[in-house]
Amino acid sequence: MAYLSTDKVEHHFHDVVIIGAGGAGLRCALQLAEQGHRVAVVSKVLPTRSHTVAAQGGMNAALGNVSSDHWHWHMYDTIKGSDYLGDQDAIEYMCRAAPQLVRELEHQGVPFSRLENGKIYQRPFGGQSREFGEGGQASRTCAAADRTGHAILHTMYQQNLKSGTHFYEEYFALDLITDDDGCQGVMVWDIAKGGYHLFQAKAVILATGGAGRIFQTTTNANICTGDGGALVLDAGLPVEDMEFFQFHPTGIAYVGPLITEAVRGEGGYLVNGDGERFMERYAPTAKDLASRDVVSRAIAIEIKEGRGCGPKKDYVLLKLAHLGEDMILSKLPNIHELALRFAGVDCTKEDIPVQPTAHYTMGGVPTNRFGEVVRQHAGADDAVVPGLYAVGEGACVSVHGANRLGGNSLLEIIVFGRACGNRVMKRLKEHRYHPKLDADCWQDGVARVRRWLDGAGDDVHGNGHGERLAVFRDEMQAIMQRYFSVYRTDKVMSEGVNQIEALAERMQSLVIEDKNSVFNTELIEALELENLMALARVTAAGALARKESRGAHARDDYPERDDVCWMQHTLASILNNKVSLAYKPVRTVPMTVDTFPPKKRVY
Ligand code: SIN
Repeated sequence: MAYLSTDKVEHHFHDVVIIGAGGAGLRCALQLAEQGHRVAVVSKVLPTRSHTVAAQGGMNAALGNVSSDHWHWHMYDTIKGSDYLGDQDAIEYMCRAAPQLVRELEHQGVPFSRLENGKIYQRPFGGQSREFGEGGQASRTCAAADRTGHAILHTMYQQNLKSGTHFYEEYFALDLITDDDGCQGVMVWDIAKGGYHLFQAKAVILATGGAGRIFQTTTNANICTGDGGALVLDAGLPVEDMEFFQFHPTGIAYVGPLITEAVRGEGGYLVNGDGERFMERYAPTAKDLASRDVVSRAIAIEIKEGRGCGPKKDYVLLKLAHLGEDMILSKLPNIHELALRFAGVDCTKEDIPVQPTAHYTMGGVPTNRFGEVVRQHAGADDAVVPGLYAVGEGACVSVHGANRLGGNSLLEIIVFGRACGNRVMKRLKEHRYHPKLDADCWQDGVARVRRWLDGAGDDVHGNGHGERLAVFRDEMQAIMQRYFSVYRTDKVMSEGVNQIEALAERMQSLVIEDKNSVFNTELIEALELENLMALARVTAAGALARKESRGAHARDDYPERDDVCWMQHTLASILNNKVSLAYKPVRTVPMTVDTFPPKKRVY
């Protein structure tokens, strides 16, 4: 059915369209715009509100400014941190590129904190070693106080303005335009004015960030709704490894905002309800700076076994007052403010109550190390989807595997943002003209909006109107939090999958009350909810199917890692409204060095 004549769809032509204006999208845009390509960045928020702004502690690079260091050790730590699920070629590429790209950021204007000798300040973060083994703590995380993401995002935005990138702010991506030749563009809704836009491009890059909002308590902003993954699923393509969701050990109890790992890097530590420094029992060497999955599990056990703090014994305390007011206010000013605002705690004097909190989507849109979206493993190489790329948290390269190391996220967005830009340039040389599109290619995008603006919803409760969106979303988040949290079992997850699938069936009953086109935030929430539901479904199904414990996926009923059956990436699709799963092997062969074979992870 045609809803509109094509003259109501504004048609734009660009060389490249990038969806998302976080650090990955902007680094990629910069690479292309500096070379004179016509780049559009389409973002549902003002670029400097993208979630990169919330990244606190820093960006890893083996600069060796504080401790001796080498990119090869960084590579080893990242593979070990990933619980051997990370792809070793991509990890080598990232760790080798890191020092050069940090220096480049410095030259572009990122105001890194400084050491006395003027070099970039580096702090210790979790899972960083100074040799291939368990000994020695490196200081590898380059920081701008505890506002590193903020500093990088603003610098990238300024550089893009200088380079002539076109920004379309407050535009929401509805549908990828695909045909037999690959991806040709994207249908977009103008949030502020209402109205449809068809962006035709020779390359479409998804840089849409994570999907933390599938959970109830998360460090993620409201905008982190996994939009790129949902667009890909809707196009019949798979997403990868969604069952691996990182719980950051130190979200502020009950509310979620992030208290950076930098607090522990600078000498803060965790205690339980007995005042015990419990991490010594779980990670005798690294203690509070063990990798995140290890620390989150330790906190969960302390709470489960009755050694939590507070009236409900459901959090632990992060101690940092001993670091001193001067140090806290100069190196951790953001933490000071967050603890005051969200926990009512002055952390120069008091401890911060913390709990593991949904933080980072390790899975995402499958790509190779050039940012090209791949469909499935086809022999030695993955088959590429022409014209479609993904970068940043919304992508799965996979450099994080089953567990990301703190400080590797800001690194990933810069390294693969740039790599993707370079690969897109190659395509632009080979594809000089925009092809003619199918006459009705815009219709699915339009239908997505009309379903909400025209729909009355089913009267499932017999009260004369459809189901309310916010109530439904709360229910979805509560199911994910309850059944797919730090510890998982078959029994619990089976119930979770049943509940999520039952909820998915109820989507048709949903209704929004605001039927206006102009700045209709309820409409945007409805579109985001569709995206979240798709990602919740594949996350749940992938988690239930993976019968082992690896990284962030910890099962009481399968407590061991199983390298014989499960050194595999999950590929989850939604076909005919059913989740279907397939698998592809981990890439264990690096680019130039020897492989790191799996071994027991000890911290
Ligand atoms: C943090 O500062 O702890 C978060 C940074 C990250 O997730 O890499």
